[in-house]
Amino acid sequence: MQKRIKNFTMYYEDTGGDGIPILFIHGYPLSSRLWGPQIEALAGAARVIAPDLRGHGRSEPVAGPYWMDLLAEDCAELLDAIGVDEPVVLCGLSMGGYVSFAFYRQYGVRVRGLVLAATRAGEDSEAGKQARDQAAQKAREQGVAKVVEDMLPKMMAPSTYEERPELVEQVRRIMLETSVAGATGDLQGMKARIDSTNTLRQIDLPTLILHGEDDQLIPASEAQAMAAAINENSAENAILELIPKAGHLLNLEQPERFNEAVLRYLKRIS
Ligand code: MLT
Repeated sequence: MQKRIKNFTMYYEDTGGDGIPILFIHGYPLSSRLWGPQIEALAGAARVIAPDLRGHGRSEPVAGPYWMDLLAEDCAELLDAIGVDEPVVLCGLSMGGYVSFAFYRQYGVRVRGLVLAATRAGEDSEAGKQARDQAAQKAREQGVAKVVEDMLPKMMAPSTYEERPELVEQVRRIMLETSVAGATGDLQGMKARIDSTNTLRQIDLPTLILHGEDDQLIPASEAQAMAAAINENSAENAILELIPKAGHLLNLEQPERFNEAVLRYLKRIS
């Protein structure tokens, strides 16, 4: 399915139905295809909506930078375009988590709860910012495929990467669908993102934090820090689950564990 959002055509999946709407926001450099196992398993329990962010997957590439606020605005406009005006659960993975924080800041009343997967609250370090610039330059000069090959071994747990070549190939295909504009737009936007720790301190919504124990890109200590920040002022709103034998793409690596946790969370909030 697709809708015109601002200056581009946005592709999205929408299972429909009258369950709680969950907006799944993918990470960098991925697409809604990341959420295949969730779309299938959760469709009976929720209305699953999963866009391809601008420049990713089947959505049109447009020039960046893709500020996290802009990506959040695209998501809100998609909800408007498909007539979802009740509050939604946001489920963001990695960069999708950064977009979820921006969405919460801009449209807090539209958020019913949060599922934060493989993400972190802090901004980039100076070294991290430099690495963004280098990756963007590589994408422009040598193409997205080069950036994908650099990142691929770190996208999953070492055991997944070694033992599950078909999953590695699936992830490679998803990543390769990202346009140069999409990859560089994300990198510029992530580099400029603000620290969201104070945002977390203000969250008083039921929040599920899911993290792979073997995440090579964002250590599990970041998930613990997010849970502590949310729970500082709001009793026990945040629940943290660490998933064994899973890395950065925990929802693909351990889909049953991920889906069970989300289903339990949906029961908790309904
Ligand atoms: C992602 O998976 O979205 C990225 O790895 C996040 C990041 O680079 O900070």
